[in-house]
Amino acid sequence: MSSKIPFEARYTLPPIERVPDTPEEIRHKQERIRRLKAERKAVILAHNYQRDEVQEVGDFVGDSLGLSQEAARTDAQVIVFCGVHFMAETAAILCPEKTVLLPDLKAGCSLAASITPEELRAYKARYPDAVVVSYINTSAAVKALSDYCCTSANAKKVIDAIPADREILFLPDKFLTAVVAQQTKRANIIAYPGYCHVHQSIQPADVARILEEHPDIELLLHPECGCVSSCMAKVFDGTLPQERTAFLSTEGMIRHVEESSAKEFAVGTEVGILHRLEKKYPDRRFYPVNPNAVCAFMKTITLDKVIRSLETLTPEVRVPEEIARKARRAIDRMLELV
Ligand code: 13P
Ligand code: SF4
Repeated sequence: MSSKIPFEARYTLPPIERVPDTPEEIRHKQERIRRLKAERKAVILAHNYQRDEVQEVGDFVGDSLGLSQEAARTDAQVIVFCGVHFMAETAAILCPEKTVLLPDLKAGCSLAASITPEELRAYKARYPDAVVVSYINTSAAVKALSDYCCTSANAKKVIDAIPADREILFLPDKFLTAVVAQQTKRANIIAYPGYCHVHQSIQPADVARILEEHPDIELLLHPECGCVSSCMAKVFDGTLPQERTAFLSTEGMIRHVEESSAKEFAVGTEVGILHRLEKKYPDRRFYPVNPNAVCAFMKTITLDKVIRSLETLTPEVRVPEEIARKARRAIDRMLELV
């Protein structure tokens, strides 16, 4: 199913602000955030792709699944979401009585922009008996039209919970769909052509280059990467060793390294994850598969904006009640499975 508006025309990439703070200024701002956070009784949830200094003020840093689980269980009255809009929306759906702040509303997502509720309605009309599984990287309005939500960490588990004879509309990421179809061995998964512009830029040529430079490296690939089909084919024909190639969510990568005996890892995802990997495993070496895989949306959040958010309790993300109620069903179904 193709869309009338090209995906690239649906979003504006914000410029990546250079923050010229000295280490001392950074420490000072982080201290200020910690004080304000205590005054406001707030919790800071930060995604693995956030700027290093923003990750450092997070009470919880993790992947999309971990962040939604944490939002669901926190007692804090205020949630400062250092991530992107669909993540803050998910927190607002799970905690309607809380104040959910997104320090910069320009923190969108090219993947979430690739499907609108109108497009999903048309898609559902074409496959009226199919079960709709929407990736967490979608708007609340798209989730509200879905049966299940999933993240890269639990997509297989969600698909496995659906009877094998039911057709599935899986959206919007075509690369994740290819991985999930291969992992679940299901032929009845219907794909949508959406993609994340950052992960799409991680190409087979990047993988070939890094393997040439480091032949024994372990390859960690996010399933949204543009190279996944080529890599799966190479694992299948034996050109890529299966035991050294893994398709993982960002948090899955952090856990995988713990269990691996390898010393060097090629990391195929947004480069912000390298901060946590390098901090947690100082004796291992990490190389980005594509060092230019930087998400401008994630980088809109700066320490100054977190301070402003805590001072003013804005910008707040709210989801209309009717949409929130319907979207929550899909999110709860996912959370019940993990
Ligand atoms: P995960 O952190 O769930 O792996 O998601 C990656 C992503 O693209 C978030 O924008
Ligand atoms: Fe969206 Fe891609 Fe950025 Fe993740 S990395 S927030 S999927 S644009």
